[in-house]
Amino acid sequence: MPLRITVLGTGYLGATHAVCLAELGFEVIGLDTDETQVKALAGGSLPFHEPGLEELLSAALASGRLRFTTSYAEAAEFGDVHFVCVGTPQRADSAAADLSHLRACVDALAPLLTRPCLVVGKSTVPVGTAAALAERVAQLAPAGPAAELAWNPEFLREGHAVADTMQPDRIVAGVTSARAEATLREVYARPLADGVPFLATDLATAELVKVAANAFLATKVSFINAMAEVCEAAGADVVPLARALSYDERIGGRFLVPGLGFGGGCLPKDIRAFGSTARELGVSSVGDLLGEVDAINLRRRARMVDLALELAGGSLEDRAVGVLGCSFKPNSDDIRDSPALDVARTVHGLGARVTVYDPAAMDRARHVQPELEYAGSMLDAATGADVLLLLTEWREFTEADPAVLGQVVAQRNIADGRSALDADRWRAAGWQYRALGRPAAAPASAEPAGADSISVTG
Ligand code: UDX
Repeated sequence: MPLRITVLGTGYLGATHAVCLAELGFEVIGLDTDETQVKALAGGSLPFHEPGLEELLSAALASGRLRFTTSYAEAAEFGDVHFVCVGTPQRADSAAADLSHLRACVDALAPLLTRPCLVVGKSTVPVGTAAALAERVAQLAPAGPAAELAWNPEFLREGHAVADTMQPDRIVAGVTSARAEATLREVYARPLADGVPFLATDLATAELVKVAANAFLATKVSFINAMAEVCEAAGADVVPLARALSYDERIGGRFLVPGLGFGGGCLPKDIRAFGSTARELGVSSVGDLLGEVDAINLRRRARMVDLALELAGGSLEDRAVGVLGCSFKPNSDDIRDSPALDVARTVHGLGARVTVYDPAAMDRARHVQPELEYAGSMLDAATGADVLLLLTEWREFTEADPAVLGQVVAQRNIADGRSALDADRWRAAGWQYRALGRPAAAPASAEPAGADSISVTG
């Protein structure tokens, strides 16, 4: 009999995981306490934008292998493996993670576990959480030691969620028994057969792998942004600097693109929570390191506002500012901790008339920032602008024709927040081009067009 699987929590991670497991051939129940969400998913509609996932959801529902419920009793009765995918947001009163949803989920499930099963945590948590939850399952589950807990962190990126789930870079399994490891190997038999590396560790190491990976990525982004600060002070150019570093294979070019920095629902909250855990553990150096990574990242937003002010001649009062992009990264409608939206809000606060265009995130942005204007297209957002700000590197913006945009703006001023435009091309079309970490004017021996932009990968 193939394993029967439940996925508890059907947000970004859980919905993707449930659909992909059904695609792998398992019978799956997705559970959420939010009845509206369960109804939407059961009707084939996703509450977020993720390429390819809605098609797989429809196919999984049609196959009969995937269904959704709000009943823990139904999930407990059904599942051999229960994946816990509930959110661990930042607490309102501190940098630490809020584990209340996770604890509530385990407390609701465990007393109903009457037969052998494996509860597998996937949420991002402070180290030590899994051991505490294992203890809780042992206390509450009527099945006794036959109900076990393992930890299997998830590394999926928004916009790549399906591929990252079906063909992950690695599978990490924090386990306390050979049986738990064998069960997880069975769940992931297909990716393992495709050669995906499988690492069995203790619970604490598995929890740490996830936060260490996010901390490294955030540090890499902030490292190049710290170099941008040095370039600004020294009159150097961070874009060719980053390119030169990227050719060193030990460094590589991914997550080394200077700009407005990281945002979203994961990296910012995860590094804050990790810093806070490290301090609790007495390793304050990691708390200090990640605090600086966070501070460098936030300073880029302030510097972007300075560039807008400089381009506007010193004051943004009643100036028209066109904002290109408000999602936290391209190919996503997620605006959680979006650097772009943060800059748009600050520029508006300085008196500017801000008009935003984004290919996917405007409905969400309008909801939280109703004071901004929203345009139906890139050209509409640019029309009449004294300053244009490129804040999220959607392809539509990076491929925009400076001559066409030049026809509609009031003044040809652009600040590139993502090192995404070809400076020479924009300057040749009569624009005053500014970018983070780059000199205000073209160097005497300008490089050939096209050579100075680097692409964001990852
Ligand atoms: C991230 C991790 O990559 C993923 O493994 C984890 O599971 C969840 O958090 P995600 O938030 O989807 O995924 O975004 P990611 O593609 O990693 O980008 C993070 C942020 O870094 C974005 O705001 C992006 O714009 C920024 N970034 C990325 C840079 O500022 N510069 C870069 O060079 C690369």
